[in-house]
Amino acid sequence: MTTQVCIIGAGPAGLLLGHLLKAEGVDCVVLERRAPDYILSRIRAGVLETITVELMERLGLDARMKSEGLWHDGFNLADGDRLIRIDMADLVGSRVMVYGQTEITKDLMDACDERGLEVVYEAEDVALHDVEGDAPYVTYSKDGAEHRVDCRFVAGCDGFHGPSRKAIPASVGKEFERVYPFGWLGILADVPPCNHELIYANHERGFGLASMRSETRSRYYVDVPLTDAVEDWGDERLWDELAIRLGPEAAANITRGPALEKSIAPLRSYVFAPMRHGRLLLCGDSAHIVPPTGAKGLNLAASDVHYASAALAAFFKANDHDAIAGYSDKALARVWKSERFSWSLTKLMHRFPEDGPFERAMQVAELDYIASSRAAQTSIAENYVGLPV
Ligand code: FAD
Ligand code: DHB
Repeated sequence: MTTQVCIIGAGPAGLLLGHLLKAEGVDCVVLERRAPDYILSRIRAGVLETITVELMERLGLDARMKSEGLWHDGFNLADGDRLIRIDMADLVGSRVMVYGQTEITKDLMDACDERGLEVVYEAEDVALHDVEGDAPYVTYSKDGAEHRVDCRFVAGCDGFHGPSRKAIPASVGKEFERVYPFGWLGILADVPPCNHELIYANHERGFGLASMRSETRSRYYVDVPLTDAVEDWGDERLWDELAIRLGPEAAANITRGPALEKSIAPLRSYVFAPMRHGRLLLCGDSAHIVPPTGAKGLNLAASDVHYASAALAAFFKANDHDAIAGYSDKALARVWKSERFSWSLTKLMHRFPEDGPFERAMQVAELDYIASSRAAQTSIAENYVGLPV
């Protein structure tokens, strides 16, 4: 098979990029290791920044998001009994959309046939070749047969563990990493949310987050030691812990229910630079990971894809090599700012095992400052709704 761009990975980054390229008249194909049902069973992010909403609007795939998603004007930081509301609408005149990554992915998948975006699911042994030259190609096997895709560019949208980043020689790239000493245990349940807005809580027993997918479906998280397993956390134990960490007011409104899904995600900050090598462009989790505090992972994948699709369209329409050359710096400038915000909110809202009274006093002082300063709240709000692309 021959195409202009071979996209590896059909997560949000790969599918968004595929649709954007198709809309620009650039030919592409997506190779995905998993089956569609498996991809749609992964419960991940839930908060969309303006850029992600705008990309779905640009593609004309925003109808379900607009009817089923929830606009949120604000969110809350809880510290013990104190609740600090960050009023994004008032502070920065913008808001976020609560709509699950699973739903975005479904909307993008459902539109593939109609828009002629070819996705090869259950593609095994995907391997990248000759990305340093002008004629790269990708090989894979499916149903026992070997296949080859000849292309002009490869887009590595294959998440943190995929083959794309590994195709860049260690001598060319640099890794920046911070691993955190806990993971987030998440529960999804068909119960009404305990609050109409999200609550991020810093409690002496640890972090808690009350989120939602709809008026009738809730998503909650607590941080747990990396040594804990999902089996250690029966539903009742988890609901009890959430009620403590989220504080008495939220606890009074928690409706308990059986878990539809429960999983533990480790927390990590990671950046690989540069995000382009020769004819290979990395987008999303293949190039960077943020800890989930701040809900930036999916949104960063969207902003990368925004830059990558523009660069690829400029190349194919106007032979603009500079656009390709500039992709990594453009994307990384925004990546680092989201990394900083996610890291700082993680530090502010979690109790680290190595922290002592001084570090706790710093958290309290910062929360006091945020509570009393419109400037501090504005900074948090502008980062949370998403910095400009
Ligand atoms: P992915 O969604 O990982 O998609 C990559 C795709 O590539 C996958 O479909 C994968 O199957 C495919 N792939 C991998 N290897 C190969 C291969 N060899 N060949 C072909 N295809 C391959 N973010 C938040 O903001 N909030 C959250 O609560 C949150 N929770 C998360 C929980 C977990 C367990 C994880 C892993 C991430 C979470 N994130 C969260 C982050 C967010 O989901 C990611 O940032 C987002 O999915 C990035 O999209 P992506 O398309 O770059 O990568
Ligand atoms: C959700 C996840 C996040 O990481 C976050 O910061 C807010 C909400 C969620 O899954 O709903």
